[in-house]
Parts: sequence; C-alpha cells; structure tokens
Amino acid sequence: MKATRIGRARWWIAAAVALVGVAVTALAPEGSAAEPAQAKVNKYIGAAKCKNCHASDETGNQHAAWTKMEHAKAYEALASEEAKKFAAERGIADPQKDEKCLKCHTTGFGAPPEAFDKKFDLKLGVQCETCHGPGEAHMKARMAAAMSEDPAKKLLGEGEIVGTPERQLCVTCHNTESPTYKPFCYFKRLEETRHLNPKKERSEAEKKELAKKCGCADKCPTADCAEGKCGVDG
Ligand code: HEC
Ligand code: HEC
Ligand code: HEC
Ligand code: HEC
Repeated sequence: MKATRIGRARWWIAAAVALVGVAVTALAPEGSAAEPAQAKVNKYIGAAKCKNCHASDETGNQHAAWTKMEHAKAYEALASEEAKKFAAERGIADPQKDEKCLKCHTTGFGAPPEAFDKKFDLKLGVQCETCHGPGEAHMKARMAAAMSEDPAKKLLGEGEIVGTPERQLCVTCHNTESPTYKPFCYFKRLEETRHLNPKKERSEAEKKELAKKCGCADKCPTADCAEGKCGVDG
C-alpha cells in the first residue's frame, strides 16, 4: 500500500521537473531567450479547464465522454450507503475525508497542496489528469500556440502531456486493495473508457496498436490472449 503511494508521488515530482523546461520555453515571448528553469510546479488544473478545449464533437468531445465514465463519479460514490458500510468495516468515519479511500477515488493523490490550481475541484473524482498527468503546462502551451503565428507551436511539445495512461497506471487503483475489486481486463476496460479524436492522423502502426482488443474478456481474470495478457492482477 505504501509502495503505491510513494511510487505515485515520485512520478509526480519527475513529471514536474521534466516540464519546467518545456513550460518556460513555450511561454517565452517570441525572440527572447528562455528564462533559466526555476523550480516551478506544473499544476493539476482540473477537468473543467480541459473542457475549454476538449469539448468539441468534431474532435471527439473527450470531456463529455469522461462525464459518462464512472471515474467522474468516483468521489460522489464515497457518500453512498455501500461506501459507508465498507468504511465502517474498516473503522473509517467518513470515506470522503479519509485517505484510505480518497487515494483511488480522487486525482493527484499524494501530490503537495501547491501542486493544485486554486480552482481544482477534488470532488470531480478520477479526472483527466489522473491518466494524462498535471495539465497546466499543456494548457499554457496550447494557449500560447493559439495566439502565435508560428506553425511549430501548433505541434505538441515533447513531454507536454506528462502521463502515460497504460495498464500499469490503471492497476495502481484497479487492484485487490479496492473493497469492491473486480478482475481488471485491461483491453476491455480501455475500450469502455475510450475517447479518441476521430480527426487525429495516425500511422498504420498506430491504428493497429489502437485496434488491439483482448477478446478474452469472458474468461478474465486468468486467460491469456493473442494480443496480451488479460486480467493479470497488478
Ligand atoms: C487551450 C486549449 C487546451 C486546453 C485547456 C487543454 N488542451 Fe489538451 N490539447 C489541446 C490541443 C490543441 C491539442 C492537440 C489536438 C488534439 O489532440 O485535440 C491537445 C491534445 C491533447 C491530448 C492528446 C495528446 C496527443 O499525444 O495527441 C491530450 C491527452 C490532452 N490534450 C489532454 C488534456 C488535458 C488532460 C487537459 C486538462 C488538464 C487539456 N488537454 C487541456 C488544447 C488544449
Ligand atoms: C482512466 C484514464 C483516463 C481518463 C480519466 C481520461 N483519459 Fe484521456 N485517454 C486515456 C487513454 C488510455 C488514452 C489513449 C487512447 C486509447 O488507447 O484509448 C486517452 C486519450 C486521450 C486523448 C487523445 C485522443 C486520441 O485520439 O489520441 C485526449 C485528447 C484525451 N485523452 C483527453 C482527455 C480529457 C480532456 C479527459 C478528461 C475530460 C480525459 N482524457 C480523461 C485515458 C484517460
Ligand atoms: C486513481 C485511481 C484510478 C485509476 C488510475 C484508474 N481508475 Fe478506473 N476506476 C477508479 C474508480 C474509483 C472507479 C469506480 C468509480 C465509481 O464507480 O464511482 C473506476 C471505474 C472504472 C471503470 C468502470 C467500470 C467499473 O468496474 O466500475 C472502468 C471501465 C475503468 N475504471 C477503467 C480504467 C482504465 C482503463 C484505467 C487506466 C487507463 C483506469 N480505470 C484507471 C479508479 C481509477
Ligand atoms: C486501491 C484503490 C481503491 C481504494 C483504496 C478504494 N477504492 Fe473504491 N473503488 C476502486 C475501484 C477501482 C472501483 C471500481 C470497481 C472495482 O474494480 O473495484 C471502486 C469502486 C468503489 C465503489 C462502487 C462505486 C459504484 O459506483 O458502485 C464504492 C462504494 C467504493 N469503491 C468505496 C470505497 C471506500 C469506502 C473506500 C475506502 C474504505 C474505497 N472504495 C477504497 C478503487 C479503490
């Protein structure tokens, strides 16, 4: 349990440090030399901010897709009768206040207070930045790009999106420590939460990678399948 927490906090620090350079370069006014990197934190800004740019149906409306996911209700779920029952069994007074529950039902658990924007709302549950990493630098880089004539700025910067939402990340929460644990078949669960941008250009290799489906969902948690191991517990 401890190892998971430390692991995630460390990921956050690495991401913050890696992004300082990117953020400073992206925001430097045209022609000026980039400021030397300061220990500035790339903050969690919350799903409401992502909505400003990721709510268009043409590009897949990721925000609407997310509001339909259970992830968006993960904090709310801690107020249910069922949640209170699990909490009582574990000597927890209020699951919405106890880190034993919040660690998997909120975003950015383990990061220090200064890592969150003032408007960040913990109550929105498992938000975009759980999977994509803190988004402040990305937002600022995209805002700067929108203001600029420079076509190079339209391209996402290397390391601008800090999270890599793969199986290893999912199973930091989808594991037997969850009081309601259900076997986690990665490919099936990925499919259920998918929110692709139909306009994005992809190579054949990328398309193939995305089309991977387990096909062994019924046999979870033990069956292997051609494309990968299905339902192996983390
Ligand atoms: C100011 C506008 C803006 C905001 C705010 C914004 N994005 Fe983006 N984002 C973009 C643009 C533009 C792209 C590139 C085109 C696309 O994929 O839609 C992009 C791309 C992405 C991608 C795809 C990266 C890739 O490799 O293709 C992810 C993931 C993403 N954004 C996540 C987020 C998250 C999470 C938030 C909130 C924390 C957020 N964005 C906030 C404009 C924005
Ligand atoms: C549970 C994890 C998770 C959450 C929460 C989540 N995403 Fe994603 N997102 C992913 C994964 C995984 C992918 C990679 C595509 C795939 O394999 O389905 C992705 C892909 C994307 C892309 C790129 C789409 C493309 O066509 O390549 C964008 C943009 C994006 N997410 C934005 C968001 C925004 C905005 C939110 C919140 C409103 C959000 N995501 C919430 C896991 C998540
Ligand atoms: C920070 C913890 C966390 C991470 C990381 C996470 N999830 Fe979840 N996930 C949850 C919680 C909590 C719920 C239940 C929310 C509820 O029902 O209110 C959930 C629910 C789901 C559900 C709905 C089905 C069900 O069993 O209730 C799917 C599908 C899912 N997650 C897929 C994924 C995938 C795929 C990833 C990785 C890309 C991922 N999750 C990463 C915490 C997480
Ligand atoms: C290790 C991560 C983890 C921890 C810790 C955790 N949960 Fe969850 N919780 C999940 C995931 C993931 C789900 C989605 C179903 C599943 O796979 O277990 C979930 C689902 C739930 C649900 C069902 C939500 C619904 O929509 O029906 C309730 C209720 C719940 N959790 C309450 C709690 C309470 C109360 C605590 C603290 C005692 C807690 N959880 C601690 C990960 C966690």
